[in-house]
Amino acid sequence: MKKKSVCIVGLGYIGLPTAALIANSGFKVSGVDIHQNIVQIINKGGIHIVEPDLDIAIKEAIESENFKAYIDVQKSDIYIICVPTPFHKSLGVPIPNIDYVLDAAKSIAKHLKSGDLIIIESTSPVGTTETVRNYIKDSGVNIDNINIAYCPERVLPGKILKELVENDRIVGGIDIKSTKLASDFYRNFVKGEVFETTAKTAEMCKLVENSSRDVSIAFANELSIICDKEDINVWELIELANKHPRVNILQPGAGVGGHCIAVDPWFIVSRDEDNSRLIRTAREVNDFKTNWVIERIKIAVSDINAKKNIKPIVACLGLAFKPDIDDLRESPALEIVSSLSKQGYDLIVVEPNIKNHELFSMTDIYSAIDQADLLVILVRHKEFLSQEIIPKLKKSNTLDFCGALQ
Ligand SMILES: NC(=O)c1ccc[n+]([C@@H]2O[C@H](COP(=O)([O-])OP(=O)(O)OC[C@H]3O[C@@H](n4cnc5c(N)ncnc54)[C@H](O)[C@@H]3O)[C@@H](O)[C@H]2O)c1
Repeated sequence: MKKKSVCIVGLGYIGLPTAALIANSGFKVSGVDIHQNIVQIINKGGIHIVEPDLDIAIKEAIESENFKAYIDVQKSDIYIICVPTPFHKSLGVPIPNIDYVLDAAKSIAKHLKSGDLIIIESTSPVGTTETVRNYIKDSGVNIDNINIAYCPERVLPGKILKELVENDRIVGGIDIKSTKLASDFYRNFVKGEVFETTAKTAEMCKLVENSSRDVSIAFANELSIICDKEDINVWELIELANKHPRVNILQPGAGVGGHCIAVDPWFIVSRDEDNSRLIRTAREVNDFKTNWVIERIKIAVSDINAKKNIKPIVACLGLAFKPDIDDLRESPALEIVSSLSKQGYDLIVVEPNIKNHELFSMTDIYSAIDQADLLVILVRHKEFLSQEIIPKLKKSNTLDFCGALQ
């Protein structure tokens, strides 16, 4: 039987690896991105993001001619939406922005034929799959035999290609037929189990997974602040508490970032503020931790200034939102560096995963250690954890906000 054609809309951290995987599983895949430069890079067999082995997978997909990138949606049998779902930053609770998903749906709608399947992978507030269905219907498409399902992505950046295949998936359609079609499609290339449910449950499932992580990290971050005041080593404390057979406390850091955990809990809170008090508080605790780190650095700078009568140079180690990636979205480290920079502090920035940044010039770790009066470890990148670097950091005046020196 001829394999169905697939069009992936949005070729970022999720869409591009997904396109490579599906194309290398033998489907004819077209990928779409609104950015011409992304389309050009991919069609030359290259990639525009950092993700291990993705370059090899894309090269293989392009050379096999199973995959090509375009600026416009291509007529296909299956459409997968992998566009961003940020939030509108407002004074109150941030509100989810599903405009990109609706734009993608609009560009798909004109190509739809009876029997087609649309899958939304973008993390979305509850009700989005139904909204997309109504949106397509309102654009004049006969929706009777169009199948629509939601299947959230739960991969870990840095391990995306492995997890795309091995993770279990949750698939929920607007009706039973959509659910079945979509889950059978994933079973072609996913080795994990594919679980079938409703669209609303699948949407909520993704939001709950990330909110659960956010709440757990908030607990660790709150402990880190309490312990600092009590002069208790929080890393040792957590290690000891975790010796309890039923306790598993996560590690504190400079806050919580990224496109998912720092964003998705708001998708729940904004729909039901009265009943999501814990989820909201966790978000606020994690955001507060970032401000607390800024204040701690400022106090350390004042101390050096008072002791040595100099304006100290502060080396900030890490800009990304977590270790060993180049992703700066919602990054606490970036927020800390930006805030200190705006306040006129003398900064050196080390981010081994980024060559150029529009605001900050990058220094290597060795020069930073040589030049800085104060080093602050904001992200546990592997480059800061080597046998050679750790003793140098320990010998220097270093504030460690992520347990790198433990
Ligand atoms: N990155 C992750 O680790 C991760 C994990 C799980 C879920 N998600 C979710 O997956 C979705 C995509 O995330 P991402 O990290 O891949 O985002 P991304 O920003 O890396 O990629 C999205 C791409 O979509 C393109 N785009 C935007 N509008 C478009 C349109 N109308 N048509 C075609 N292309 C369009 C953008 O140019 C961009 O290249 C988000 O909802 C995110 O929350 C991401």
